[in-house]
Amino acid sequence: MATGLLGLGVYAPSKVLTNKDLESFMDTSDEWITSRTGISERRISEPNEYVSDLAVKAVENLLQRHGEGILDGVEQVIVATNTPDAFFPNTAALVADQIGLKGAAGYDLLAGCPGWLYASSQAVGQVEAGIAEKVLVIGSEVLTKIVDWRDRSTAVLFGDAAGAAVIGKVREGHGFRSFVLGADGSGGNTLHMSALASSLPDGTRMGPSIYMNGREVFKFAVRVMDTASVEAIEKAGLHPDEISLFVPHQANERIINAARERLGLSWDRVVMNLDRYGNTSTASIPLALAEALDAGKVGQGDNLLFVSFGAGLTWAATVLTWGGA
Ligand code: UT7
Repeated sequence: MATGLLGLGVYAPSKVLTNKDLESFMDTSDEWITSRTGISERRISEPNEYVSDLAVKAVENLLQRHGEGILDGVEQVIVATNTPDAFFPNTAALVADQIGLKGAAGYDLLAGCPGWLYASSQAVGQVEAGIAEKVLVIGSEVLTKIVDWRDRSTAVLFGDAAGAAVIGKVREGHGFRSFVLGADGSGGNTLHMSALASSLPDGTRMGPSIYMNGREVFKFAVRVMDTASVEAIEKAGLHPDEISLFVPHQANERIINAARERLGLSWDRVVMNLDRYGNTSTASIPLALAEALDAGKVGQGDNLLFVSFGAGLTWAATVLTWGGA
């Protein structure tokens, strides 16, 4: 047996904030945002809607798609998020309670935007070690609650969404074939949000919102999307030609295009939905994958490449052979 993805559900709030809407209260333009990022609009959570709420709705979508039985045997819930409801209790425990997984282990994982891939690797390890039969891996974010709306260079990028996947045993020849995970804390200050009394090494106090040096993160992203992808493909024993679909972190069209070119992939093998959702951090890959599945772009035995980068600075890439459930 191998370990793979047994089911997927997603949720995005219904409220849409377009680039034109942003123009009404920020010194920006639809032209600047679309040409520099590829983003046209993003979804905004309600004031009283938090990460656990979005996560529960993604699980409801998972149940609609796959039936109640999909959660049978789930012994752990991991919520990868950068915007948890609270420091404690952890969001996963709240979600497990709300979806009726009484007694399942629950913990949150904070690893920037690659958090859902990090959590998937945890889940694979738990399943293969015989510790859990199945693990529910959720990426959920309410980033629009922590952006500084006065900072046009970051506020325009982010959106809210959630994705929930069940990871468990699949037939041999399918499932996760490789994981590449990494972090470089020396770049931690380029994408930062304070927790308690944290401050930068130079003594600058950071407010409770996202600070980002976009250019530095951009350079890092272009480099690491390429190197992590190549390493994950090699570790999987494959050649880039054998990748059916590239599902990258939906941060910036120019970053995705640079990785696509370096891997020699045509656009029809790339999933992109950032135009409608912006950067939803840990939710971005499951959200994009669900769209590809719904569009019939993923078939049994297809090799999918996921790659992400984010605050830490962190990166992650994995190759998954679809199917085998
Ligand atoms: O999940 C990880 C999250 N982080 C990322 O993915 C961020 C990666 N970085 C990026 O995507 C890009 O660096 C940005 C989209 C953030 C910025 O694009 P850029 O091409 O690197 O622009 P820039 O920062 O070099 O700024 C160019 C100009 C500046 O004006 P001046 O100094 O040339 O006069 C900015 O002030 O664009 C200005 N600018 C804007 N103008 C209109 C910055 N943000 C905006 C804006 N609207 N929203």
